[in-house]
Amino acid sequence: MPEIRLPISTKRLILRRFEGRDLDAFHAYHSLPETARFLPGPPKSYTQSMERVGKYANFVYEKEGDWVCLAIEAKDSPELLGEVVLKWLPGLGQGELGWSLAPGARGQGYATEAAEAVLDLGFGELGLHRIEARLDALNAGSAALCERLTMRLEARLVDKWHYKGQWATELVYAILDMEWRCR
Ligand SMILES: CC(C)(COP(=O)(O)OP(=O)(O)OC[C@H]1O[C@@H](n2cnc3c(N)ncnc32)[C@H](O)[C@@H]1OP(=O)(O)O)[C@@H](O)C(=O)NCCC(=O)NCCS
Repeated sequence: MPEIRLPISTKRLILRRFEGRDLDAFHAYHSLPETARFLPGPPKSYTQSMERVGKYANFVYEKEGDWVCLAIEAKDSPELLGEVVLKWLPGLGQGELGWSLAPGARGQGYATEAAEAVLDLGFGELGLHRIEARLDALNAGSAALCERLTMRLEARLVDKWHYKGQWATELVYAILDMEWRCR
């Protein structure tokens, strides 16, 4: 596997490895019900945030099932805005994107900018062929983000999960390496 060169710099953002100093900011948004609404499990406890930041800080990307986990920071301010993740899925050249932002960082295109950089990384240095995103059909923010990224809606899996006390329909968006390069 090629080495992942960090940090990644975009127009407004730095994408870097998580550090211990990110814990409080990470916990501040991951302890909120509105952040947890479309993520597995309830809002995170401080211990769960500690475990997650520890995992993100020490990520390795060497084999199927591994994740690239990047902290999102604005260039003009060193605070944590959110995270973007890319999972190496089983099968040749397959990946899955994920994202979360702190409430104060939403509505400014930061998730789009960070996800674009991770698609560049996935289809460039990491040599992936297809990258997908899976989301609850009620998660309008994530669906709009997939559309902005020009990902294709490939599947609508009705009542695929039961979580948070109700059935949830899953949308699968995806994009291929050639499509990303030619968009
Ligand atoms: C999903 C999530 C990351 C989307 O965040 P977001 O802020 O809507 O997405 P972006 O950062 O790309 O910002 C897009 C918004 O900024 C606006 N914007 C402003 N400047 C922009 C720019 N330069 N480029 C793109 N969009 C810009 C867009 O018009 C859009 O606004 P709208 O929602 O009113 O249409 C966020 O809702 C979140 O963290 N949710 C909780 C966790 C979660 O559900 N994670 C995903 C589980 S699948």
